[in-house]
Amino acid sequence: MLKGKKILIGVTASIAAYKAIYLVRLFIKEGAEVQVVMTPNAKDFVTPLTLSALSNRPVLIEPFNPDDGEWNSHVDLGNWADIMIVAPASANTLAKMANGIADNLLLATFLAAKCPVFFAPAMDLDMYKHPATQNNVKKLIADGFNLIDSSAGELASGLVGQGRLQEPEIILQIIKEFFAKKNDLKGKNILITAGPTYENIDPVRFIGNYSSGLMGFSIAKEAVSRGGNVTLVSGPVNLNIDSVNRIDVVNADQMYNACLENYSKADIIIMAAAVADYTPINCENSKIKKYKSKLSIDLKPTVDILSKLGELKSDKQILVGFALETDNEIENAKSKLKKKNLDFIVLNSLKDKGAGFKYDTNKISIIDINDNIQNFELKSKKDVAVDIIDKLVEYINSH
Ligand code: CTP
Repeated sequence: MLKGKKILIGVTASIAAYKAIYLVRLFIKEGAEVQVVMTPNAKDFVTPLTLSALSNRPVLIEPFNPDDGEWNSHVDLGNWADIMIVAPASANTLAKMANGIADNLLLATFLAAKCPVFFAPAMDLDMYKHPATQNNVKKLIADGFNLIDSSAGELASGLVGQGRLQEPEIILQIIKEFFAKKNDLKGKNILITAGPTYENIDPVRFIGNYSSGLMGFSIAKEAVSRGGNVTLVSGPVNLNIDSVNRIDVVNADQMYNACLENYSKADIIIMAAAVADYTPINCENSKIKKYKSKLSIDLKPTVDILSKLGELKSDKQILVGFALETDNEIENAKSKLKKKNLDFIVLNSLKDKGAGFKYDTNKISIIDINDNIQNFELKSKKDVAVDIIDKLVEYINSH
């Protein structure tokens, strides 16, 4: 299953470095190509000879070979790898990774790597619990790197607690699942909407909402990372994204047109945008002055894009909507699911603390056409996106 996959294993100075031997062996047995990079101190814990014999490649430690001056390019290494796994990751290396310090080949390679990076901490209980280490771990996760958390048990110091390097078999399993997932949307065209819409009142004012776009962008990133071809129609947001066909729009009408243009070639449509339900009947050409004693603005409904797409939907297309509710959440979401002809709906309730527009977290339930309801914990929007795409893939596979 890992045949031909290029795996860069970074080994740092931790007692658990001996487990890197098993890890390299397991990956080689699975058919992967393994390149080991060690920190200079790691070779006090495990010999480069063993690791190079098992990986069939010289282990790299220094940026250049002092005997012949041959250069070990961290950039080439970073480009070569499909994934990088730092295992064991010592407290010292974690701290440097979290802060962009590059004082050895392993760290320079980490900074240059464009591939997904996994890190598996291993250290003594108190070092692991230390706020400095915990903050570094949190920072690395927030920066998009993947934690393979340590397990609890007896540590080299004799203490018992969390800090043991995760078992090599489990690390292998996590990486296999990663590669399996990586392609599960391969060949699928996915249309995603994100962010708010702004409905102009006059040249300087608009009716809008607090949507940051983070949920839709997180879904788009997850879909891309799993092989999907993503078209992202976004309202006004302050977010960046690579590797998608991004169409920026301002108002509901523009979002509708962009969706219509891209709808027919989409296999999957996920409407995460917070589209305005009403728009001013007239947008004033000049700025409205404040001399009026009373001002009212007449509004008309916008097109319900999701409903329109539900009407146009072919049997082969999958349509996913969102519902943001404050009352009778489940009932309202179920009725939107049916009314708008969706395959499933993602419900977030404003009653849940930490859910909705203003947070980086969300708490969702997913309701499908068979009335199955799946409730999820409060999570980062990045992790919520993983749950939504997992559900999507499960749905595709069961149809
Ligand atoms: N939506 C849309 N076009 C609109 C309004 C909403 O496509 N003009 C989509 C949203 O992207 C979301 C879903 O409809 O996927 C539900 O949005 P929500 O605001 O919860 O519900 P509404 O259908 O607008 O109903 P209401 O505001 O009455 O709850």
